[in-house]
Amino acid sequence: MSDDAYGQLLAASIQHLELLKARGLRHVAVQPQTLAALAAPIAAAARAASPSIRPAPVPAPASRPTQAPISAPVVAAARPPAPVARPVSSPVAAPPPPLAAVLTAPPVSPTPALPKAEAFAALRARALTCIRCPHLASSRRQVVFGVGDINARLMFVGEAPGADEDVQGEPFVGRAGELLTKMIIGMGLTRATVYIGNVLKCRPDTPGQPSGNRKPTTAEMQTCLPYLQEQIDLIQPQVLVALGSTAMEGLVGHPVAISKIRGQWQSYRGIPLMPTFHPAYVLRNQAMAIKRQVWEDLLAAMEHLALPISEKQRNYFLKP
Ligand code: URA
Repeated sequence: MSDDAYGQLLAASIQHLELLKARGLRHVAVQPQTLAALAAPIAAAARAASPSIRPAPVPAPASRPTQAPISAPVVAAARPPAPVARPVSSPVAAPPPPLAAVLTAPPVSPTPALPKAEAFAALRARALTCIRCPHLASSRRQVVFGVGDINARLMFVGEAPGADEDVQGEPFVGRAGELLTKMIIGMGLTRATVYIGNVLKCRPDTPGQPSGNRKPTTAEMQTCLPYLQEQIDLIQPQVLVALGSTAMEGLVGHPVAISKIRGQWQSYRGIPLMPTFHPAYVLRNQAMAIKRQVWEDLLAAMEHLALPISEKQRNYFLKP
């Protein structure tokens, strides 16, 4: 089959599946052999069309940032020196302030051969049939690719799907997801106007355990990261918010003390990145101070995006 015919067949299949999903269908039975057969030409086409999806080499230790910005005082560094708002329509877009650290290689400007929506659909199709982690491919119910607006200015990055996400095929739909959704609404946005993704697209398996979650391994995160990187490169959000230490670790490739780094602007692939606590941590902790810290991080993101902030929003979680 020619590449062109294969591309058309793929696009038609995706369109059909999207239609089924829109009609409420959540599961499609597919034999593992079919998945494997589908993945082979996709992987070959992906290699030909987009070298950037290959697993990124582990960053050399020398290229990693020093720990200095991470250990800087949280509160003092929690705000950029000046507003760095960039309204969509403003031609005088102020660049972000010097961010605390450049965590990875500079951005690879997305030069997709396809228009954005098609490139995103093709990326999604590749991820949905991914079998790079055979243990996860065989244990998952479905790949949890991401949700939201591919033109969003704000993108949230979590760690990995849990049980609820594995069932529903959508990130952050469990208890932590409900809190994230509330936070997004508190910002005056909706899940549909931001983009939400995870470092890992499959639920980490827990063999022998009927329930529970586990942290993704370093190898799993490194294997899956290229998908997230390509999502980021295609979406080109103006702000990234990393939710929790594991999400940060997945992004930068080494452990990060989230309580030290949260609230401090970082840069990821050239995009301002705000690390904050994971909503699951907020649920476990419930301390007002933690909620306020997360909210301050989101306010910083809103300021950067020049989103309107009411007095009420400014004062959330402050003592009366
Ligand atoms: N936690 C995450 O990090 N991601 C999800 O999708 C759900 C819970």
